[in-house]
Amino acid sequence: MRRAKITIIGAGNVGATTAHWCAAAELGNIVLLDIPQTGDMPKGKGLDLRQAGPIVGFDSDIIGTTSYEDTVGSDVVVITAGIPRKPGMSRDDLLATNAKIMTEVCQQVKRTSDHAIVIVVSNPLDAMVQRAMQVTGFEPQRVVGQAGILDTARYRTFLSMELGVSVEDISALLMGGHGDTMVPIPSCTSVGGIPVTQLIDRKRLDEIVERTRNGGAEIVSLLKTGSAYYAPAAATTQMVEAVVRDKKRLVPCAAYCDKEYGVGGYYVGVPVILGASGVERVIELKLSADEQAAFQKSVDAVKQLVAAMAKLV
Ligand code: NAI
Ligand code: 2OP
Repeated sequence: MRRAKITIIGAGNVGATTAHWCAAAELGNIVLLDIPQTGDMPKGKGLDLRQAGPIVGFDSDIIGTTSYEDTVGSDVVVITAGIPRKPGMSRDDLLATNAKIMTEVCQQVKRTSDHAIVIVVSNPLDAMVQRAMQVTGFEPQRVVGQAGILDTARYRTFLSMELGVSVEDISALLMGGHGDTMVPIPSCTSVGGIPVTQLIDRKRLDEIVERTRNGGAEIVSLLKTGSAYYAPAAATTQMVEAVVRDKKRLVPCAAYCDKEYGVGGYYVGVPVILGASGVERVIELKLSADEQAAFQKSVDAVKQLVAAMAKLV
């Protein structure tokens, strides 16, 4: 069987770590690309990772490059290119720089891999994934953003720390934009099948949600020189796997919603079925009045971000 070709654009922290986990899971052959100004760095990381193969036991071909010609015909393209946050910066502070980078990158992706599924990671995520769809001109279902799997993983981690229960027994869902307006859905959060509201009181649950909202900033303030990458890369790898193995995972992703939830043509975090064709279905939940109001607030924030981006590109 032919191996999938996975291109990861941006060989920095998230890109290289995603390459690592994709290789370890033998998801396909990997091309790790960065800009020419980084010299031989992507080649070095690609070769180093490939040399882990005999030890870890994977056979993936892995190369690092600064040339899009090496990416031709990719099945999946992951975009992590861009600048990360520094302490005191919000994701939205990255808008002007990363919108330009996303435009350049997506022009090349359109030229070299016009059948690919594109997974966007760069921030501010909800605007960047919209930009990727605009520039590639790909069907919106083939362009999807990573945020919800990470945000939900942070929430599950904090719930597990609170309850002293395995993370494996915690199911949860967060919707909305990747940012301060993310929306927890308590009716979809359970621990071993028990609704979380029976195990943690409302006030404490609100505190855990607040820590989750600030989960990215908490890591930035600890690292000081950049933002999180292990959990973001693990989340991205789960999405790559869903596509290359056509797993039909039901996961929260930034997906294009038009009639869905009445969003009107924007990318926003919603539960989707993710498989070989990208976003195969958006799952529409019945939200409570409070959840709907919080989701709408989040959608409004995404719309404002996209409008701000339109003035910059
Ligand atoms: P990093 O600085 O370690 O790596 C970014 C890489 O992108 C650098 O190697 C840089 O040379 C490269 N790059 C810049 N312009 C490029 C271009 N035009 N073409 C190709 N490569 C280019 O940053 P890190 O930590 O890997 O984060 C990358 C992005 O992902 C940031 O915007 C960050 O905010 C975002 N992020 C998003 C998450 C999410 O959940 N959606 C989670 C974590 C990070
Ligand atoms: C995060 O949530 C920076 O968006 C990134 O860690």
